[in-house]
Amino acid sequence: MVLSRSMLAAAPSNVLVPSSHGQLHAIDELQTGLLTHPAYIDPKYLYDTLGSSLFTAITQLPEYYPTRCEAEILDEYAVDIAEHVGNVSALVDLGAGDCAKAEKLLPSLLPERYIPIDISVEYLHNAVQRIQHAYKDLKVLPLGQDFHHALTLPDSIPLPGRLFFYPGSSIGNLTPERALALLTQIRDSCPEGGLLIGVDRIKSRHTLEQAYDDALHLTAAFNLNLLRHVNQRLGSDFEVSDWQHVAHYDEPHARVQMHLQAQSDIQIHWPGAHRDFREGERIHTENSYKYTPDGFRSLLTRAGFSRIEHWSDTRGWFSVFSARA
Ligand code: AVJ
Repeated sequence: MVLSRSMLAAAPSNVLVPSSHGQLHAIDELQTGLLTHPAYIDPKYLYDTLGSSLFTAITQLPEYYPTRCEAEILDEYAVDIAEHVGNVSALVDLGAGDCAKAEKLLPSLLPERYIPIDISVEYLHNAVQRIQHAYKDLKVLPLGQDFHHALTLPDSIPLPGRLFFYPGSSIGNLTPERALALLTQIRDSCPEGGLLIGVDRIKSRHTLEQAYDDALHLTAAFNLNLLRHVNQRLGSDFEVSDWQHVAHYDEPHARVQMHLQAQSDIQIHWPGAHRDFREGERIHTENSYKYTPDGFRSLLTRAGFSRIEHWSDTRGWFSVFSARA
């Protein structure tokens, strides 16, 4: 779906949110996933207001290494990265969330414009206020859109010097085929710019599974909260206590998978339909693909990028790639 400007309604504070059209689309999408065998729910539904807060809490867990590894790389190699990236007129932050990562880059990249894009516009709102307050001359243009469906930037953003920033290894939510499609779309949107992207690496099963099944059960809460969000959007009657969080590393596909597993036979109802789940049956809620540096480099090459560089943390657990057109 392409979100054109006419389909966006202005909310208080200059944040653009999708109109009711987005809600209809969500209902169709959720219903389709729940009626499929095996059932699935798109991971973007993990991020309602509470889900976004839970994710921020996860990034502070000892087991969840990606955020710290990436921060270490961005700090340690800030100068080299800025050099490779070149002149930045607009920093386009894909899945900006609390905008904390981009904020760390602002002093070294010094863009004229900052364009945070996120589905969770409420979450974006506070962060945008904070950034605008700290950087009075920066032109901040927040966009509420699901850039996985269509990446559309206003024509007012000049082509030269566009830098797309896609941190946190969020690209891992997509299958390699869909990742390639998104990278190609990004490449086509910055014919004279580049991409700075965080990628999680293949490592031991133990380290990976702990990161997605932590001792405080924050990831379990994050996954289970999805059911409350779905109830809200679809009008379904999921009981959180009927389900269990499961995280598993699927080594052949190099991906961590999250599921919700029914604790007993359950029937779920929502307006117009219902679905039976047997005890032990699972709903797939997330893939998190891991890459080797060579594997990701070849994906960037196939997407049409030519000058590619990457930096890693000391343990080699995470990589930040800079790719230019
Ligand atoms: C935000 C998609 C990068 O895959 O590691 C964290 C989401 N899921 N814990 C990830 C997530 C479970 C995260 N990404």
